[in-house]
Amino acid sequence: MAKKVLVSGGAGYIGSHVTVELIGAGYDVVVADNMSNCDMTCFEGVKKITGREDIPFYQIDCCDYEAVDKLFAEHKIDAVIHFAAFKAVGESVAKPIMYYRNNLVSFLNILEASKNHGGCNVLFSSSATVYGEAENLPVTEQTPRLPATSPYGNTKQMCEDILRDVVLATAGGADGQGVVKGIALRYFNPIGAHPSALIGELPRGVPNNLVPFITQTAIGKRECLSIFGNDYPTEDGTCLRDYIDIVDLAKAHVAAVSRMLDGKMKQDYEIFNVGTGRPVSVYELVTAFEKVNGLKLNYKFAPRRPGDVVAIWADTKLANEELGWKAERTVGETLASAWAWERHLAGK
Ligand code: UFG
Repeated sequence: MAKKVLVSGGAGYIGSHVTVELIGAGYDVVVADNMSNCDMTCFEGVKKITGREDIPFYQIDCCDYEAVDKLFAEHKIDAVIHFAAFKAVGESVAKPIMYYRNNLVSFLNILEASKNHGGCNVLFSSSATVYGEAENLPVTEQTPRLPATSPYGNTKQMCEDILRDVVLATAGGADGQGVVKGIALRYFNPIGAHPSALIGELPRGVPNNLVPFITQTAIGKRECLSIFGNDYPTEDGTCLRDYIDIVDLAKAHVAAVSRMLDGKMKQDYEIFNVGTGRPVSVYELVTAFEKVNGLKLNYKFAPRRPGDVVAIWADTKLANEELGWKAERTVGETLASAWAWERHLAGK
């Protein structure tokens, strides 16, 4: 029988792409989402891409323990991929209580429900934000985490630690209780959309992240892209990031879930960087977008954005070797998919 994976936050940007890849790999998937930061567009897209109308969907808030518990009572869950969290850095600085409550309580509820229903494997969606402004690049999983500079970043660190502690406390699930194994995936900068252009990023209001701002500028929804800072100590003066294609990122989740479910983990709690290993500057990304899509983007150089690190990219050796996973799509392909998605949204 196919193993069953719960994707919390499964109607969102990353969750929807992961759901597609899981189903493609033969897993049964249950989606839970409170729809606080998305609408049904992506979930409908997931159904179209997979041809599956019957994906169980729970519109629940993972902060509601009763609702989570009911889901676990109705499905024998083998693994959870937990995305359900708020993710805007700036907003988290302004609303720390809301961020801590939502991101911590929802995760604790997932862990607790898992424990109360016999235990399952848990994959936590972490972030390269845990490395802060790292001294040595690229960062490996051993690179020390630095004190978080936002409540959002802090919740990522705290949830990593919570998962590690819960896994260790129930090591191997010997007592038939609790979490069995745990993996944290540290994402670098996820960008792009599914090649079908049926699912992609759906920012609410003005986008914070670079690529949705680029595509919205290109389509005419925004007047002009500001490139935040061109006086950084990099070749062209703009920040360096590791932009990871969303479908490649989704496939890393399938590899990690299979590793857990097929008993291939070397430790009960493991961490992997998920990136390409290639630094790309903001300016390079903007010009690559113009080139691959054959258009001119209205952009200007603007002051630095507070809180941005100069440069970060991944050492991906561990993920490549242990997960047998590697980023495959080129930046050009990814940027073409982001543009196709924006045009799909605009009906063009
Ligand atoms: N940028 C611009 N103009 C914009 C938006 C972004 O120049 O309109 C630049 C930023 O200054 C940065 C780069 O594009 O140099 C990437 O910015 P994003 O906002 O797309 O991504 P970040 O690297 O800031 O954010 C990522 C994740 C967050 C995480 C953060 C921690 O998306 O979840 O890293 O560093 F918290």
